[in-house]
Amino acid sequence: MGVGIRDNIIDEIKNRCSIVDVIGRHVTLKKTGNSYKGICPFHKEKTPSFVVSDTKQIFTCFGCGATGDVIEFVQRYNNLDFPGAVEKLCEEYGIEIKNANFRKEQDKTALYEINREAAAFFYRAFTKMTNPGYEYMKTRGMESATLRKFGIGYADGEWDSLYRHFIEKEINPQTLLELGLISQSKGKYYDKYRNRVVFPIINTRGKVIGFGGRILGDGEPKYLNSPESPIFLKKNNLYGLNLTRQDINKENYVILVEGYMDVISLYQQGIRNVVASLGTALTENQAAMLKRYTENVILAYDADTAGQTAALRGLDILHKAGCKVKVLHISDGKDPDDFIKKNGKEEFLKLAQNAMPFADYKIYLLRQMLNLDTTEGSVEFLQETARILGELSPVEADIYIKKIARETNISEGAIRLEINGNNNSKITRTSNAAPVWDTGRMGQYNESAIGFGTMLEKNLIKLMLLKSSYVNRIKPYEKVFQSSSAYKIYELILSEYKEDEEIDIKKVEDSLEAEDNRLLRDILENIQLADKEEQVFQDCIQSIEEAGLAKREQEIIQIISMLDDEKDRDKIEALTIEMMKLRKGKTNDR
Ligand code: GTP
Ligand code: MN
Repeated sequence: MGVGIRDNIIDEIKNRCSIVDVIGRHVTLKKTGNSYKGICPFHKEKTPSFVVSDTKQIFTCFGCGATGDVIEFVQRYNNLDFPGAVEKLCEEYGIEIKNANFRKEQDKTALYEINREAAAFFYRAFTKMTNPGYEYMKTRGMESATLRKFGIGYADGEWDSLYRHFIEKEINPQTLLELGLISQSKGKYYDKYRNRVVFPIINTRGKVIGFGGRILGDGEPKYLNSPESPIFLKKNNLYGLNLTRQDINKENYVILVEGYMDVISLYQQGIRNVVASLGTALTENQAAMLKRYTENVILAYDADTAGQTAALRGLDILHKAGCKVKVLHISDGKDPDDFIKKNGKEEFLKLAQNAMPFADYKIYLLRQMLNLDTTEGSVEFLQETARILGELSPVEADIYIKKIARETNISEGAIRLEINGNNNSKITRTSNAAPVWDTGRMGQYNESAIGFGTMLEKNLIKLMLLKSSYVNRIKPYEKVFQSSSAYKIYELILSEYKEDEEIDIKKVEDSLEAEDNRLLRDILENIQLADKEEQVFQDCIQSIEEAGLAKREQEIIQIISMLDDEKDRDKIEALTIEMMKLRKGKTNDR
């Protein structure tokens, strides 16, 4: 975890905190022989199978398999990370952590304390008498109990009431600046949050690490969020997790939303396994944090395009972190808060039940983007789908293959072939064996940068420059000239070409721009045909044709896969014969 908590502290904890004592505070233990027995706190059971060994200082449950040392127990029991568990044990057993990290931790304590005080200040303003913040939250359907639970506060309209509050307490303005509670302008300090509803952001250790302040009604900016500070690293936090992690654990899935209001609103309606990523793109750290509580994530982002784009990115991050992700589609309203207010908890849970699994969602988006009634659309769909399915386990992929084959005109065989073909083409591409002039599938790998050409292009140009009789023989294959410089040279050769006259190289050279001339110079100086012109020409033509055949073969496979077994019998037969010929031709050559 890279926290740098030194081994000696861990030893110290293990020496001072008896595992029987620590666990005994939460679980009733009975001594049996050398160890202690109790009801396992990590799974439901009636007869005790949870054993704590005093000598080995470990716990083991023979029912659910949970096992570990004292720190691991505290982690699991309290849903803490490793440093959190260490800190908790140190606090409870009066162990001083002397290393540098802990000193930093103590500096942070002062910052946490200030934030806590600010949260309390805002909270008092919100709960004391009628105030516009409370009024606003009422209009948004929030009940007092919910607001209290989340510690919602109000920043009044004064310029500096929070600032003065802290000055009275002799807090250094510099610290307040660092925490983003005040701003400075023309030598004067003023409160950053004014006339806003304040959402304290609290981490899983119960510390106030930052704030979000919402404007009352419309206006810009809608939210003011705390800047990053030593105690607020945005990429490491999820809003609401401090209150909802037990529920996430219990339900074994989490609903991930975008906004503060979404969390509070779902929570109020009884959906408590919810957290927000707070507008920023989901990070790997956030994904890893969630995974501590559950691996099942339902993304419930806003229905607008921004929300959907964010969902798509979040999807990949969560998938990579090893989560099972689904995407919930808000069918009414702009966000989860909106939806649940209009339709209630049960309807929202239905949406969650119908949420689309990772691959379904991606395939669904593809189907929306592409027109499967056209061959191009189908081919692209097939290729993209194959890529998505290629990332799944074979068993999972198989389910999708069957489903897609049922719902589209594409056969199971074609999809399988494409998935396997994809894996192969990865190898071909890196080994550079792919025909560079193949504009189809390999198009993006063309070496089309100015001034460069492929060996094939260079050889053919050299041939034409040496003997103009090659111009007419090469012309049928002119599609081969793909890189821009090669194509320009070829065009000039064509325009200069006169029957029975050699090409005037000087003229070609003069008509070319400097960057294209680089290729010409390269060809003139470096391509040596060693009087084997005819053989080089034959080799070139052969490789062009082979590549053409390979491409045609791919095409045939794809077309066949999209034809109807019954209706298009004749076409399928003709194509199959063509393909067999192609393949036979290839083996004969070798
Ligand atoms: P409501 O409009 O009150 O329902 O807000 P919301 O909670 O639904 O938030 P919204 O979907 O508009 O935005 C999602 C999250 O993005 C918010 O919770 C904020 O964290 C963040 N966000 C939204 N607007 C702003 C803004 O103007 N500035 C900043 N810094 N963050 C914003
Ligand atoms: Mn909203």
